Amino acid sequence: MRITILGAGGFLGRKLAARLAQDGQLNGRAVTGLTLFDLNVPPAPEAGFPIRRVPGDIADSAAVAEAIPPGTDIVFHLAAVVSAAAEADFDLGMRVNLQGTLALLDACRRLDRAPRVIFTSSVASFGGGQGAMVPDDGRQLPANSYGAQKAMGELLLQDASRKGFLDAVSIRLPTVIVRPGRPNKAASSFVSGIVREPLLGLETTCPVGPDFAIWACSPRRAVEWFLHAATMDTAPLGLDRGINPPGLSVTVGELLEALERVGGAEARARVIFTPDPTIEAIVSGWPAAFAATRARALGFTQQEGAEAVLEAFLADDLQATRAERATA
Ligand SMILES: NC(=O)c1ccc[n+]([C@@H]2O[C@H](COP(=O)([O-])OP(=O)(O)OC[C@H]3O[C@@H](n4cnc5c(N)ncnc54)[C@H](O)[C@@H]3O)[C@@H](O)[C@H]2O)c1
Repeated sequence: MRITILGAGGFLGRKLAARLAQDGQLNGRAVTGLTLFDLNVPPAPEAGFPIRRVPGDIADSAAVAEAIPPGTDIVFHLAAVVSAAAEADFDLGMRVNLQGTLALLDACRRLDRAPRVIFTSSVASFGGGQGAMVPDDGRQLPANSYGAQKAMGELLLQDASRKGFLDAVSIRLPTVIVRPGRPNKAASSFVSGIVREPLLGLETTCPVGPDFAIWACSPRRAVEWFLHAATMDTAPLGLDRGINPPGLSVTVGELLEALERVGGAEARARVIFTPDPTIEAIVSGWPAAFAATRARALGFTQQEGAEAVLEAFLADDLQATRAERATA
């Protein structure tokens, strides 16, 4: 099986590459080659199969074609400009998030057979806000450019699947926590920040109140969903290639309670509530709960509770985050 990860140097791309390297197979079929594509040369894990690293711009069709050579079976499309960055720079968001997906489509059309494409869409492609419970057939009405670009990408890939150019599964990811390393430009960056920073012994601010609810998942669960999407039977999807996976609806207050259980009262005391209307304006448009019935029926596994999410961060990423933050 030959696999390409676009956006392989990012948070989830690295985790996915590490998992593929560790497993060496996907659903019983050996991985025979992995191409890692990102703006800069992405890090490569130790693996029992060849890994090719291709630096390039996702909006550059020639570069993307090089990353998706003939014989490619699976493409994970994770390359993106994240929410607050795409909102601040409309042109950049359109170029990376929309033209990048068009370049992927071009590259797939050149192949001799249609590859499976796993596209990371987002909860941000929905509107509705705090009170909403999104049904499986809920309409995507994004209140931000990033979400609109993700919805456009989904529609492109749905039609390309109908045409037989590729075979897409678009996973509308919840906010993935706990993001290791440093805060990023996602509007939801604080959701990771309010647990990561205190666990590092640092104070941090929270731009929304304790009752604010978030639709969340862990990076471990996101990678499980990617792998399932890569090998599932797509026939039952029909024309509808979008998946609302079974995430966790959790409030800021519940996350802080879990933080206290895992890191003590002193960790919780490091979170200072400081309203930020710009961030709140973006994130308050995102729904905090989905029915996810179809995804469960299709075999997508359920996200565990908040404490398990924090424990996964402690086990997988706290040490590396400490090391990274200490060296700059
Ligand atoms: N992390 C989350 O909470 C979350 C939630 C919903 C959806 N998603 C989506 O999942 C995917 C992965 O998320 P992540 O958290 O790993 O993001 P990330 O920002 O860590 O990784 C994205 C990668 O895309 C690369 N990239 C950006 N512009 C590029 C360009 N012009 N050419 C090539 N590569 C480029 C970046 O260098 C980066 O390595 C993204 O598509 C994101 O929109 C993430």
